[in-house]
Amino acid sequence: MPYNYDYYAKSAEYIRSRTDIKPEIGIILGTGLGPFARQIENPVEIPYKDIPNFLVSTAPDHAGKLILGTISGRKVVCMSGRFHFYEGYSMEQLSIPVRVLKLLGIQKLVLTNAAGAVNTGYRPGDVMMISDHIKLYLGSPMRGPNVPEFGGRFFDVSDMYSSNLREIARSCAADSPLRIQEGVYMFFPGPQFESPAEIRAARILGADAIGMSTVTETLTAAHCKLPVLAFAVITNMAAGVKKGPVGGGEVEETASRIESDFSSYMKEVIGAI
Ligand code: HPA
Repeated sequence: MPYNYDYYAKSAEYIRSRTDIKPEIGIILGTGLGPFARQIENPVEIPYKDIPNFLVSTAPDHAGKLILGTISGRKVVCMSGRFHFYEGYSMEQLSIPVRVLKLLGIQKLVLTNAAGAVNTGYRPGDVMMISDHIKLYLGSPMRGPNVPEFGGRFFDVSDMYSSNLREIARSCAADSPLRIQEGVYMFFPGPQFESPAEIRAARILGADAIGMSTVTETLTAAHCKLPVLAFAVITNMAAGVKKGPVGGGEVEETASRIESDFSSYMKEVIGAI
């Protein structure tokens, strides 16, 4: 099946047939951050499996549904559960969610993820506003025939993580008990966590945090000129930063510990952007 304009339009058309809500902001929730969806007022839920040409979530802790409704007076469409390269999807397939949200009319995209800290000044529970990313391998979700309805063949990525949106999010941070950081996110394909040597390399290259998501969505958004605001919730120190293995419930535990403060902060940000 070619990923042409009609491919994405079919998914969007089905979603429009299920609700009159015209979302202005898209939100994608990362591992352990699904409970934020409870903030959505008057929700209309659509399971991914019902949407033609869409993908299905296979990752643990990813609910697998689209939720449309209102947060802080803004109409939103929220993906509770996202898609990752490690699930077996191709880079090209990973263009689907953001292009479908774009066709629903969103003008801004807010992304969240769980991440490991490479920066030794960070602590689990910090929230890092992503200022830029590093992705060195595995090509691009825009690889293959260009779909000109979304954007040009070659496209600029110098302000993918919108400096304007970050400025607004920074101003909302004053009222939050969270430690809000700002830094560079580096993509690793997973599903294995990184090795200590990879983390040392990431630090030399300029990464502050690492994770297995977000960059395909941001690149797809940059191609269709959709401004992105992205938050990496630091759930653990990356491999080798502290003694002992990575994982073992720490990712979900930290995400659930800050859930209520993070939800309050996100609500304020969504009202302000
Ligand atoms: N590495 C990659 N992805 C992650 C991590 C990590 O340490 N923590 C949460 N997501």
